[in-house]
Amino acid sequence: MVQLTPPMGWNSWNTFGEEINEALIKETADYMADSGLAELGYNYLVIDDCWSLKERDENHRLVADPVKFPNGMKAVADYVHSKGLKFGMYSCAGNLTCAGYPGSYEHEFIDADTFAEWGVDFLKYDYCYHSNIVPGEILYRRMGLALENCGRDILFSGCSWGADETHKWIKTTAASMWRSTGDIFDTWESIKSLTQQQLELHPYNGAGCFNDMDMLVVGMYGKGNVGLSGCTDTQYKTHFSIWAFLGSPLMIGCDIRSMNQATKDILTNKEIIAINQDPLLRQPYKIEGFWGGSDLLMYARHLSNGDIAIGLFNMGEKAATARFNLDELGLPLSLGKTITAKDIWTGEDAKILNGNFRWRLEPYDCAVFRAKLVDLA
Ligand code: GLA
Repeated sequence: MVQLTPPMGWNSWNTFGEEINEALIKETADYMADSGLAELGYNYLVIDDCWSLKERDENHRLVADPVKFPNGMKAVADYVHSKGLKFGMYSCAGNLTCAGYPGSYEHEFIDADTFAEWGVDFLKYDYCYHSNIVPGEILYRRMGLALENCGRDILFSGCSWGADETHKWIKTTAASMWRSTGDIFDTWESIKSLTQQQLELHPYNGAGCFNDMDMLVVGMYGKGNVGLSGCTDTQYKTHFSIWAFLGSPLMIGCDIRSMNQATKDILTNKEIIAINQDPLLRQPYKIEGFWGGSDLLMYARHLSNGDIAIGLFNMGEKAATARFNLDELGLPLSLGKTITAKDIWTGEDAKILNGNFRWRLEPYDCAVFRAKLVDLA
């Protein structure tokens, strides 16, 4: 399978951890289908770790926990499919998953066949308890091969957290996305740290295999499995904008059944999603600008139709002013071109004077523009 744009969906881990069951998955599927999330592109519903029994059956097959999933996984997959969604599951390249359930090490082909029989469309593949003898690239290639020979199109989502220089070999596996960062937690420090971890990795992102900055924490407000101190709505807005702008898969991690309006407004912003899903998938580049300080991140990215996305992200606790000359976007004054742009979040017009762009950002806030080129008046 060739994945042309960053996958989007929902994953159980951030909020629910071990507390997963058939009713939760069905209700989540209902909500994804009925709320319009699926229509916006959020179409993978993924069950993370902790879904199986602690031991395989006598045929060495993985077994869904009968208390959590009394009708088995095929029934769950059928329900998810009946809602027009795709169904994702989780395993691990090690003997055990990160939470201590059986991993797929040396069971890669039998597990890929099981997932195919159940109707799985997406496999997240973790890296805990992996062999110290067999290198990661071999382990991921092995599962990739098993998936490509299981008779079903299953999106392979590598999750080795960027360890062992994943970026150098992940594209030799069948992975369509790969975790380029450690785990996310519902704090601003975590969001900031994962953003930093991407800086050198942008050249590796693109169609076919996407840098996965981990599931979103938007709307968690400190509740649930990775909920620690939680974040403000402004911080969630900036988090979502960064993930979208940098071309990460967008996997929602909050309990969507009870999300508030602010969370919904962030996750369903069509123009931000359009930047994430832009078919050209151009690599973002940093704008240096003037006197911004290390907490002010400025990025640009070419989009289809000749547009340019501009993302200004204030990662710091103090207000900051973004300033840069349009020549950093390839538009020196002498060329007779400028841009018109509105901040997607506020609708406010960009202020450009003598080829210099200037924008004030409150603490932790961001502005994202889809700029159009025009002739200088
Ligand atoms: C690792 C992964 C997480 C999650 C947990 C499950 O930490 O990085 O995304 O899947 O394992 O145990």
